[in-house]
Amino acid sequence: MSSRFAASVGVATMLIQSNQSISGHLAEIGTFAGRYFIALSHALIEDERAIGYDTFSWPGPKVKTKLEENIAKYGIASRSIIVAADSMKLSAKDILALAPGKRIRFFHVDGEHTPEHLTNDLTLAAEALDERGVICLDDMLHAGYPTLPIIVHEFLKSQPSLRVFCIIDREDISAQTKYMICREPMFDFYIEHLIKAFPNNIWPLGADFRYEKKALVLSPDPKLPSFDDLL
Ligand SMILES: C[S@@+](CC[C@H](N)C(=O)[O-])C[C@H]1O[C@@H](n2cnc3c(N)ncnc32)[C@H](O)[C@@H]1O
Repeated sequence: MSSRFAASVGVATMLIQSNQSISGHLAEIGTFAGRYFIALSHALIEDERAIGYDTFSWPGPKVKTKLEENIAKYGIASRSIIVAADSMKLSAKDILALAPGKRIRFFHVDGEHTPEHLTNDLTLAAEALDERGVICLDDMLHAGYPTLPIIVHEFLKSQPSLRVFCIIDREDISAQTKYMICREPMFDFYIEHLIKAFPNNIWPLGADFRYEKKALVLSPDPKLPSFDDLL
């Protein structure tokens, strides 16, 4: 699941994009009842659309009805395109055909957590992404899914132009850590703007992905222990 803090960082990222004329649609694999999808949909402008995919089979058949009720309740029905589908059977062309004329500027991957699904969903996201867009991955560094970041690193090795520019720290075990990924020329851009947007949430040591520069870590509680008594 997604935290309130991660939703605020996602929305801020989309506002930063709009302010720099980076336009495109929002897409999500694993829409569930719409918690992250609806929050981020509110940052869309003009003719941009929110495209959501889910199998709607977990935990039971009522989840699609719940999503539709939530979409109506929060006033985003006219922008939303919801498709019941298995992401393994999709292509980037299928996704882009739903709202032609724009690519995806924010792609949230939150579907099945097997290596095959994550690799498939990452590939779809990278292929459908606007060149200045962002891929956001849920449940990274989750105690229940310790191999997911390994899959991401394998994928990134095959796509050297993509970089993790920000880790959004978890709120609790059900509202987990996310990675945000962009193309290398946008790495500094997103970090600089997010630092300005979240000055009280920067964990000072950053994230070491072995790039020449560390990625940003944003945390709801970015404290560092004090070692002053050891100096
Ligand atoms: C943890 S939930 C997503 C939570 C949601 N993104 C949020 O932040 O509230 C994971 C979702 O992925 C969906 N899912 C699992 N496998 C899928 C697949 N192969 N294709 C599409 N959706 C899938 C599940 O049905 C489930 O609704």
